Amino acid sequence: MSRVAIVTQKTVVITGANAGIGFQATMHFARQGAKVIMACRSLDKASAAKAQIEQEIPNANLQIIRLDVSDLNSVQAFATEFIEQVGELDVLINNAGIVAIPLTRNEAGHEMQLATNYLGAFSLTGLLLPYFRKDATTRIVNVSSLAHRMGKLNIDNLNWEVSEYDQWKAYGNGKVAMMNHTLELNRRLQQSGSKTIALAAHPGFANTNIHQNSPALNKDNASAFSKWFHKKMEKFIPSAADAARPIILAADGESVQGGDYYGPGGFLEIGGKPAKAKINKVAKDTQLAKQLWTVSETMTGTRYLSES
Ligand SMILES: NC(=O)c1ccc[n+]([C@@H]2O[C@H](COP(=O)([O-])OP(=O)(O)OC[C@H]3O[C@@H](n4cnc5c(N)ncnc54)[C@H](OP(=O)(O)O)[C@@H]3O)[C@@H](O)[C@H]2O)c1
Repeated sequence: MSRVAIVTQKTVVITGANAGIGFQATMHFARQGAKVIMACRSLDKASAAKAQIEQEIPNANLQIIRLDVSDLNSVQAFATEFIEQVGELDVLINNAGIVAIPLTRNEAGHEMQLATNYLGAFSLTGLLLPYFRKDATTRIVNVSSLAHRMGKLNIDNLNWEVSEYDQWKAYGNGKVAMMNHTLELNRRLQQSGSKTIALAAHPGFANTNIHQNSPALNKDNASAFSKWFHKKMEKFIPSAADAARPIILAADGESVQGGDYYGPGGFLEIGGKPAKAKINKVAKDTQLAKQLWTVSETMTGTRYLSES
């Protein structure tokens, strides 16, 4: 009797799928025939990105569901819509992010970089966790940054209520929170006997919109010298397609394991072929991880894989 292989189509949820690294990851999975849920805050930008991909890959299976990851109500609304309309997933890529913006807070009072780059992902992961396919190894990929290595986890001041706000430290702190959370998430998944693994990746440095969205990095606000310098350097900055490779490896590579961290393997992890990347001490601190988990549950109201 001949065996019939059952090929199950993968479902991949990508936050910030309309631009930069998220767009490249969406292209990759669309090319593979996966169903990709584009979780984007702007429906217009998402529709334009979807049309661009469909032009290149006419049979792409893409669905847009609105998500403003900095807004916990939107995260809840996304999860509800996803559960009703899709119901099952194989891969979640928490990619949406912003960098170095002046002090801003969301409706819940959470500092905006922490809310966008970490808390929203913490909540989304918890809300989607029960819906990962059970009959296969599935994965959660969190997008971090080289900047996590300068980050600190000030558990009593995560939300910048005690010390003076610094937009670069806030970026590093949010990204180290994401790294620390990824490792703890993977430990808790393993302890619970889950087949889902959690790992992280960073793109190095890439020529994407993220710099335009930051007043500190926006070329239009730069001095004449920095505009000139940027123009000269532009050709050396990796493209979004190259920078997305470590994230795609983490999300789709066969040999990756829970707790891995990938980045570009070249000089200072800025560019180059994907390889294992360096994780800082704060991210590996398991005591801090337990505290961060508890604080994150309190701040987001999303509880999962709790220890007590
Ligand atoms: N580019 C780099 O050099 C670099 C370096 C280290 C780490 N990273 C990380 O890589 C990830 C992707 O960044 P990128 O370089 O691809 O930047 P990008 O081109 O600006 O793309 C970021 C994506 O995130 C989305 N986004 C931002 N805030 C959001 C929110 N509140 N809700 C939902 N989506 C939101 C953006 O939507 P809009 O289009 O609507 O703005 C966009 O789709 C980020 O996590 C970033 O921190 C990038």
